[in-house]
Amino acid sequence: MTRKTLVVGNWKMHGSKEQVAAYFSELQKAIQNSSDKLLNEVVVCPPFIYLAQAAKLLEQLPQVKLGAQDVSGFTQGAYTGQIAASMLVDIGCQYVIVGHSERRQYCQESEEEIADKFFAAKATGLTPILCVGETQAQREEKRTESVVLGQLQAILTRQGVQSFQDAIIAYEPVWAIGTGLTASPQEAQAVHLLLRQTLAEYDVGLAQRLPILYGGSVKSSNAQQLFAMPDIDGALVGGASLQASEFFAISKV
Ligand code: 13P
Repeated sequence: MTRKTLVVGNWKMHGSKEQVAAYFSELQKAIQNSSDKLLNEVVVCPPFIYLAQAAKLLEQLPQVKLGAQDVSGFTQGAYTGQIAASMLVDIGCQYVIVGHSERRQYCQESEEEIADKFFAAKATGLTPILCVGETQAQREEKRTESVVLGQLQAILTRQGVQSFQDAIIAYEPVWAIGTGLTASPQEAQAVHLLLRQTLAEYDVGLAQRLPILYGGSVKSSNAQQLFAMPDIDGALVGGASLQASEFFAISKV
């Protein structure tokens, strides 16, 4: 079975109006001047405030899709500072990252809140990219499996395996994020397989179709080895997605 392959750029809190314009102009040139094929889907997730500008620029670059880095778990109302899933759809987003480890850590997002966000996204037709991953300490304590399965279970207990229909999982070991340390292709593959096999216990077809991305210090020099693994379907890229040329290099098949 061939699964959808994707590369998703998470800009985190980087960028300016000027940089957004320059980035998409460079990315457009790189795509147009190249005969290389891209992965099935290339997605860029700028900060909320630049989504409208990016959406406008992407009208000229339909190969690249737009995503957000977070979403409210509420549909609308008195939630100062939050952004509803319907607003993301309104502005042209198709994807949204939920449960990123930086939000779990700095914003104390609970499993319950993350599940609310995941289902709020799904209810509007956005594709949620659920991030799971263990910390360095958890890995050393040999708790990787229980941590990632617990994060998966928080979604499964709400609405069962069908929750993952038209969703994406990103395995991002926290110790590999922004550190230059990448999980080896074999280490990452083992966790991806565990996630897929766990979902396959409920629905084999769905588990086979579900894209599972790897994230954590992915760059053009290590992407191919990771993508060669049978259960790694692409990458969620932080730092290396900030340079259009480098991001493009990762996106090539
Ligand atoms: P880096 O690629 O900078 O390690 O970040 C990974 C990440 O957190 C993407 O969401």
